[in-house]
Amino acid sequence: MADSLIFRRRRDIFLSNLSSFAAIIPAAELVTHHADCEYPFRQNSDFWYLTGFDEPNAVALFLPHKPKGEQYVLFVLPKESAAEVWTGFRWGTKGVLDNFDVDISHPLSEFPTLLAHYLEGAEGIAFRVGNHPKLEPLVLKVWSEHLQKLPRSGFAPFSMIAPCPILHDMRLRKDDFEIQRMRIASKISAEAHEFVRDFARPGMNERDLQAQIEKYFLEKGTRGPAYGSIVASGDNACVLHYTANNSQIKNGDLVLIDAGCSLNDYYNGDITRTFPVNGRFSGEQKDLYEIILRAQKAAIECVRPGDNAENVHMTALKHLVEGLVDIGLLVGEVDSIIEQQAYSHLYMHRTGHWLGLDVHDVGAYRLGDYPLNLEPGMVLTVEPGIYISDRLAVPKGQPEIEARWKGIGIRIEDDVLVTKDSVEVLSSNAAKNLIDLEN
Ligand code: GLY
Ligand code: MN
Ligand code: MN
Repeated sequence: MADSLIFRRRRDIFLSNLSSFAAIIPAAELVTHHADCEYPFRQNSDFWYLTGFDEPNAVALFLPHKPKGEQYVLFVLPKESAAEVWTGFRWGTKGVLDNFDVDISHPLSEFPTLLAHYLEGAEGIAFRVGNHPKLEPLVLKVWSEHLQKLPRSGFAPFSMIAPCPILHDMRLRKDDFEIQRMRIASKISAEAHEFVRDFARPGMNERDLQAQIEKYFLEKGTRGPAYGSIVASGDNACVLHYTANNSQIKNGDLVLIDAGCSLNDYYNGDITRTFPVNGRFSGEQKDLYEIILRAQKAAIECVRPGDNAENVHMTALKHLVEGLVDIGLLVGEVDSIIEQQAYSHLYMHRTGHWLGLDVHDVGAYRLGDYPLNLEPGMVLTVEPGIYISDRLAVPKGQPEIEARWKGIGIRIEDDVLVTKDSVEVLSSNAAKNLIDLEN
């Protein structure tokens, strides 16, 4: 399907799910640092999903209460040579009409005066309060003016809803096109992990490996890393969001790399691999690695329609705790260790998250008391780990940890797609079996 048809199809579904609510979906803005230098632009994923338009500061309106041909309105920054000299090409109002399948376009400056008109006749407004501090006062003011006129007009948008339940439900279930893109994002990310493992040697700096993996992403034509790459040797791997990446890698260290690329249309990979930099696991490193790998494989087996992410997590956790009891790092009955969270100094995060246009992608995990069932087209990560350091106190009743285990942090993370019958591991090109990591 051509790109424009994909976005149109999403808009059609969104419009029909909105019933008679008018949706206001803002683009991201440019964010500055160093006083006034812009960070690389990153579009808001909801906005991108519906528009495919990659400029900042735009606002899209979706108006199911209007006739066909007037339902998709885009406010954009106008063509302006002086501004384009600084920040680059803009499509402008005519450009988006001709190229982005919009029904009506306006310069952004007209948004404050035209919004009231576009909301006329809508039963309510779909707008996410709390996320758009510049736009929100304006939206509330226009809504309030409509309500004030109610005695004379007899009609106004009566309520405001968040668009996320509709939109994020759509984004949670990937269609064939998205699955194709996710396969590519994970494949490039997996290849990069293979590439950097071959490159790594004791004595290098973590940053040398970061440079190689990100170079690989860029050379493949992606936007680069989807998130701050984590390249953590030795004890640094026990810091879950370590991004300093500036230590020298010692002979005997494990290196944990958590990195994935972001494609030009924002689909992401998110892969973690942990390997011995000198090609040989120590006894302790191997014992722990085998536990985590077993846990991860068992958890991936649970990824199938009708099962749920909660069970994926609990399966990984059970295997981790069993393994830790076997090697004496935990003591007691597995079930009661889990119930009391007496493992939480060694495993302190969940086993995965949805993956898509956002690395920590949108979509509910639970419906009240009930975990959401997995369905074909959902993509999630499966990423158990064990982290042994002195940072957290050993829970009461659990053994103190011998020095030989300390400073070992291991995580194994794959990107997996729920298929009709079971699971497809999108990141399977990144080796994780012991035999492939040793030489
Ligand atoms: N790289 C972020 C995560 O694994 O969730
Ligand atoms: Mn992840
Ligand atoms: Mn990750």
